Amino acid sequence: MKYLIVACVAGWGCLSPLHAQNTPAYLDESKPLEQRIDDALSRMTLDEKIAVIHAQSKFSSPGVKRLGFPDLWTDDGPHGVRPDVLWDEWEQAGQTNDSCVAFPALTCLAATWNPDLARLYGESLGEEALYRNKSVMLGPGVNIYRTPLGGRNFEYLGEDPYLASRMVVPYVQGLQSKGVAACVKHYALNNDEEYRHQVNVIVSDRALHEIYLPAFKAAVQEGGAWAIMGAYNLYKNQHNCHNNIMLNKILKQNWGFDGVVISDWGGCHDTDEAVRNGLDLEFGTWTNGLTMGKTNAYDGYYLATAYKQAILQGKYTTKELDEKVRRVLRLFYRTTMNRNKPVGFLCSESHYEAALRIAQEGIVLLKNEVVKKDKTPLLPLDLSKMKRILVVGENAIKMMTVGGGSSSLKAQHEILPLDGLISHLSSLTTHLSVDYARGYVGDTIQSYNGVTVGRSLYETRSQTELTAEAVEKAREADVVIFFGGLNKSDHQDCEGHDRLSYDLPYSQNEVVEAILKVNPRLVFVNISGSGAALPWLAKVPAVVQAWFIGSEAGKAIASVLTGDTNPSGKLPFTWYASLDQCGAHATGAYPGTWRTDHKIIDEEYKEGLFVGYRWMDRQKKQSPLFPFGYGLSYTTFKIGKATADKQELTADGNITFTVPVTNTGSVAGAETIQLYVSDLHSKVERPVKELKVFRKVFLQPGETKQVSLTLDKSALSFYDDETGLWTAEPGDFKALIGTSSKNIINDYKFRLN
Ligand code: BGC
Repeated sequence: MKYLIVACVAGWGCLSPLHAQNTPAYLDESKPLEQRIDDALSRMTLDEKIAVIHAQSKFSSPGVKRLGFPDLWTDDGPHGVRPDVLWDEWEQAGQTNDSCVAFPALTCLAATWNPDLARLYGESLGEEALYRNKSVMLGPGVNIYRTPLGGRNFEYLGEDPYLASRMVVPYVQGLQSKGVAACVKHYALNNDEEYRHQVNVIVSDRALHEIYLPAFKAAVQEGGAWAIMGAYNLYKNQHNCHNNIMLNKILKQNWGFDGVVISDWGGCHDTDEAVRNGLDLEFGTWTNGLTMGKTNAYDGYYLATAYKQAILQGKYTTKELDEKVRRVLRLFYRTTMNRNKPVGFLCSESHYEAALRIAQEGIVLLKNEVVKKDKTPLLPLDLSKMKRILVVGENAIKMMTVGGGSSSLKAQHEILPLDGLISHLSSLTTHLSVDYARGYVGDTIQSYNGVTVGRSLYETRSQTELTAEAVEKAREADVVIFFGGLNKSDHQDCEGHDRLSYDLPYSQNEVVEAILKVNPRLVFVNISGSGAALPWLAKVPAVVQAWFIGSEAGKAIASVLTGDTNPSGKLPFTWYASLDQCGAHATGAYPGTWRTDHKIIDEEYKEGLFVGYRWMDRQKKQSPLFPFGYGLSYTTFKIGKATADKQELTADGNITFTVPVTNTGSVAGAETIQLYVSDLHSKVERPVKELKVFRKVFLQPGETKQVSLTLDKSALSFYDDETGLWTAEPGDFKALIGTSSKNIINDYKFRLN
């Protein structure tokens, strides 16, 4: 028997009739999946079952050698495939074949408002993962942007549950189409990083279901995600990696999730809860590690020896264990045991093209005005009128694919903004000189997680000297391009902590102000995953939001600045003028209140449903710096009058609005038409409006397209916390159609019968 199995495994796909007859069901591809799982399960010993539900190294868990199931390799995620670390240490393994293409961080993907690009992202990442033999990618992250201080905002898809849902589904589908599992994270309510292991979130059922869960639900139900990662924090006093309500009730029972719940690394704390409350696969629990001399430190995991002993002593039957193993086997069949996987490629041209496209489409033009005496706005740069360009700022020369925590990468290459600009300009013209001034010193760290940063950031000059240099050079320049923003250092856009302040760090603001005194022609390119206070905004004519955009960063930014790419990104979050415009801060809810024993910090989401624009819409006297959904273009669009195919909607019907959109400018461009729904009368409090459909449309100069936007009853529903059901009340609604959450051009009243 043993011999036969080995032969089958080795000769997969070309079984002779005799072999096929003797092929056990679990190896027989013609058998239904669940039958194969049952058969495999029935053959596994207790030890084998215990082994497959916890890690054996930092990023792998064992398969079942005896039966021919290979080990399962996971890896971060979500912006590229993380370089290998040692078997049981966080240090780099030092491989020479694990450099990757760094894709733009997910905030940039969300800013494209283009689900096709999310699909491309997932597919490209999947191919990189396949090449590296990784079967589970730890991502994408879909926690809602609740406060701009959140250290991991850059890894997520913005503040709006609908936008995040539309973007996560194709990402998951694209990735999994390559036979690589998405592990959607961090489920749930991990909306800030400070004290992430100790935060107990208190949130209303409505906010939970209407704001914080929809993207996870979409990833599971529409995307068909094969894995999900439990979050570090607590909900109702129970850690989310073994939380009965979150995992057993909502995820598995209500949503019908048939995949694997994986603990965040070190997020599992208790055997009994892990056994009973829906955790399937334990990773990252702290152990002494192999270097401390234990035979196998992984036996110390909560779901390892302790669980086995409890079963042997009769505390548990194998009911829960079999359920976990069943899910893990399902994951094996979907990934490691999938013989029809496509071929993986690492660093292929197509992956670089994908990274570049996503970066170009995600960059957001926030401001673009005419400087006095000029006839046209400052961007795109009119190179024919320029001789000298000055680039200022550390972020022009700082690698951003390293740092930030677990999403840090070893990119095969990263084109820095300064290099990208120089190379792009020299391909266009020969008469320009590009000079550089450091401007300020931020973080000069030269290596992160063992990955060395290419260019030295060492600097000995004082701030006074740096400012003076920037000002002197700016005097002579035709335009100054300032690369500032945040970076991936601790307390910025970085896992583990939140930002300490909403201000731009280091001396950026002073340097900007000093330059403005001698040269008003300043473009501020902000590199970050979150908004920040921009105190000089009224004086700076052009501002570009350029995110963390991966390997092709410099190329993408240069193409936008010069007009070779017409920007079409839209903000996936509200860019507040100050922190008190954000509900989590205005209500004093963030970061929470420590209990007297100082072990748990309770964070009540006092703003409830009113996150981002939902909060802003209720503040009559306040305006954000830039609203959700906002972004400019180098062309202009005319949005015509919307028509609807009906005025009344039945419970099982839908209603389609059609809006003519014309490119009235002289260059090709894209506009994103956004439809928000407003419930005019309701028994419960509802946000003023909520995004329910959007469509990005690409138009040549002079071209008009009819953009159709369809709603059904689900778009009108709220989560009824009395019944636990989604409910749409018959009555009047409005469709508000525009180009941002502030710029509503059409409003159309309709009725649900
Ligand atoms: C992070 C996860 C990550 C894991 C493995 C954790 O600290 O929260 O997002 O996937 O580490 O690196």
